[in-house]
Amino acid sequence: MAISKDLAARFPNDFLFGVATAAYQIEGAANEDGRKPSIWDAFSKMPGRVYKGHSGDVACDHYHRWESDLDLIRSLGVDAYRFSIAWPRILPDGRGQVNEKGLDFYDRLIDGMVARGLKVFPTLYHWDLPLTLAGYGGWTARNTAEAFAEYAEIVVRRLGDRMDALATINEPWCICHLSHLYGVHAPGEKSPAAFAAAIHTLNLAHGLGVEAARSVRPDLPMGIVINAHSVYPASGSPVDQGAAERAFEFHNGLFFSPLFEGSYPAEVLEAYGEMMPIEDGDLQTINQPLDWWGLNYYTPLRVKDDGSADTLYPRAEVVPPKPGPDLTDIGWEIYETGLSDLMKGLYERYSLPPMFITENGACYNDEPVDGAIGDTRRIDYLDKHFRAVADARDAGVPVKGYFLWSLMDNYEWAEGYKMRFGIVHVDYDTQVRTLKDSALWYRNLISEHVSAR
Ligand code: NOJ
Repeated sequence: MAISKDLAARFPNDFLFGVATAAYQIEGAANEDGRKPSIWDAFSKMPGRVYKGHSGDVACDHYHRWESDLDLIRSLGVDAYRFSIAWPRILPDGRGQVNEKGLDFYDRLIDGMVARGLKVFPTLYHWDLPLTLAGYGGWTARNTAEAFAEYAEIVVRRLGDRMDALATINEPWCICHLSHLYGVHAPGEKSPAAFAAAIHTLNLAHGLGVEAARSVRPDLPMGIVINAHSVYPASGSPVDQGAAERAFEFHNGLFFSPLFEGSYPAEVLEAYGEMMPIEDGDLQTINQPLDWWGLNYYTPLRVKDDGSADTLYPRAEVVPPKPGPDLTDIGWEIYETGLSDLMKGLYERYSLPPMFITENGACYNDEPVDGAIGDTRRIDYLDKHFRAVADARDAGVPVKGYFLWSLMDNYEWAEGYKMRFGIVHVDYDTQVRTLKDSALWYRNLISEHVSAR
């Protein structure tokens, strides 16, 4: 196992080490205590949408096992836990009637975290939109942004007193692209108009959500979690370099510009503006000063100029990675420099508050052999990416902590249970959790950091 003393020494005493999960991916108990379906409950049951028709009905059964799961988290020695709150448990129809039993669950969970000395980092929306709202247009409709603000206020009123930081939305890029343009995530839309509308509705929901949360608790550190893309030209040619620059705006500018500068990039407005339901005052609402932001990073994006003039990403086509040892089991390229380049590049380009790495990790589907899971490839990935975070910090990026994705194997959306990102193995037949070697490595890294504090 890699020795990580030197690595631990690269992070300051107050750096937070955490693990991350999300409600639909781990909780199960889909029909319990008043929860109603989300768009993922419906989508996962449509033929052919998810690997082998897997759904989150049971997942890791965390809804019933939350106490022992918190003990497990504690046993790793981490400082903080990032999880998400299921909107359909709190407001089963998205707005209107509040389900107290849903709030009670998170009340117990958060108390359990506090009792174990874990910092509380919830996310309000990690893709489980109440199905009823989808019937009113989902993320393409402005009323969903308004409903989100009501939901945010209800959650913060009941639970905000014990939160250390609250994120509004997880990965708006995925919601626009995967859910509304490529159709591979719920609700499975393939429509440029829906995609463009969702970009704006999500940004607006974030802004309204921050306002609503702060109206109850002005001191609660508010942020958002973005899977910004580290974009590189696929070749050294100047045309491909131009494509990379354009792709940066079309993948990252969509969110960073309105959130942190109060405007959409001109080229984005030119391409999608007519389809974006922007109203007077929206950009001010979106451009709330934030206390922090979170970056989810796994892999870089390489693009080439494809010569076309009228695609959704004008003349910038994504080049998929070639199979080989530099890919994880889900087929994503391993490139840790992409993380440090991205962190530095974003702070050069925008005026940003301090950040956390809210997700980073690797998919490797190693199974137990004689009771042990020797996921050395994951350890190697993590070691490299931690070093990249330290490099960016040394270069001046104000990164305050790192949340590893994921605590345990879980429901990997359209990939079902086939793809495993956990540092803890889950046997889905028995629900037995087994620490992988990467969990032992992480525990070791943290304990070395603690002893140096
Ligand atoms: C990002 C998403 O937030 C999370 O839900 C997902 O499991 C990981 N990426 C891995 O794909």
